[in-house]
Amino acid sequence: MGFFIRSLVAQNSKHVWRAYSTAASDTTVKAMVYSSYGKPSEVLRWHTYPLPSLTDDTVHVRFLASPINPADVNQVQGAYPLKPAFEQLGDAKAAVGGNEGVAEVVATGKNVSSLKVGDQVVMARSGYGTWRTHAAGPPEDFQPLPQSTNTSVIQKATITVNPCTAYRMLKDFSPLKPGDYVIQNGGNSAVGQAVIQIAKAWGLKTVNVVRNRPEIDSLRQELMDLGATHVVTDEELGTHEMRSKMKGWFDGKPPLLGLNCVGGKSATEMARYLGHNGHYVTYGAMARAPLTLPASMLIFKNITFHGFWMTRWTDQNSADERLKMFEDLVGLMDKNQLREPRWAKVEWNEDAMKHAVDAGIQGFTQGKQVVFPTSS
Ligand SMILES: NC(=O)c1ccc[n+]([C@@H]2O[C@H](COP(=O)([O-])OP(=O)(O)OC[C@H]3O[C@@H](n4cnc5c(N)ncnc54)[C@H](OP(=O)(O)O)[C@@H]3O)[C@@H](O)[C@H]2O)c1
Repeated sequence: MGFFIRSLVAQNSKHVWRAYSTAASDTTVKAMVYSSYGKPSEVLRWHTYPLPSLTDDTVHVRFLASPINPADVNQVQGAYPLKPAFEQLGDAKAAVGGNEGVAEVVATGKNVSSLKVGDQVVMARSGYGTWRTHAAGPPEDFQPLPQSTNTSVIQKATITVNPCTAYRMLKDFSPLKPGDYVIQNGGNSAVGQAVIQIAKAWGLKTVNVVRNRPEIDSLRQELMDLGATHVVTDEELGTHEMRSKMKGWFDGKPPLLGLNCVGGKSATEMARYLGHNGHYVTYGAMARAPLTLPASMLIFKNITFHGFWMTRWTDQNSADERLKMFEDLVGLMDKNQLREPRWAKVEWNEDAMKHAVDAGIQGFTQGKQVVFPTSS
């Protein structure tokens, strides 16, 4: 016989008390967890615990696929503002790693009407812990994805962070019309590639800054195939030649939206290309260097500098607003206008996961690393 315990869990970037059933089902959950912050390969560990029994008001889900995002790595390191809840999971107090993934509903309690068995769901908010095979909880923890005809499991598993971030940044900061330019760095990141494709579908043009590399021509071609208008290396960005080239491209209408994934010197350089009254949105800091801004950009060009955090947007907006965004994105995916991100399979075992999480923030990778927690 089970009983209920109370546990502190993350919700809306805060912690709230939630009641859990401690009665165990027959299912054993396998998860990558951590009980303290640190280097992922040192603090992450494989953990098994019994899935709590189904109650009248809860559902059971099994995870189909979960990516490893840079923020997940920062979270394990303790360097991310959204702190996980360290919960009692079987015989250990731990947090499950990961924030994003797609799961399938496998059982519903008799009072649950908002989800049914077979629904594919994403997490209702960040901080849920998606590197696990199964989870149990109230239906409000999950949000069903819209029906789709042509959306892969990888696209579903990676929809809530990168495509949503790209979508919101293109929509919410500057009223853009078809034909307008957007400039971004991190053009080769998963967010950057989503920006390229969504912008193209909406009739916008993009200048995409990437790090130089030996195989730059093939990267340039790959991004052009996705719909990039121009691809520029960070080394080219500050040169006289590039300035005059861009003047020609913009033809008197410089971009009014800049998206900064990187920070540091090239991010400052990119801001110089924005037109008067433009908006510059910082959403990442991959170079781990501060963003320095000449005062003239604020005083004379009246550029507004913003930060964007998808977690905050999700906390501050309704599930219906989020669903509208999912419908638009799935619509683009169904039409092949928003493709599967480049991805690489990570084996679902402790060593492979540790290695992948350590590597997950280093760049020059083979694409988004994804685990399939129930596949082996
Ligand atoms: N604020 C938000 O809500 C939000 C949402 C999603 C993502 N993000 C952030 O956005 C960033 C990208 O995320 P993602 O999932 O798209 O990442 P990703 O696909 O793993 O790509 C990482 C990108 O960062 C670049 N990079 C890595 N180290 C770099 C360095 N030292 N200098 C310059 N560029 C470097 C890589 O460039 P190469 O291609 O040259 O390797 C690659 O383009 C991360 O910082 C992530 O935390 C923020």
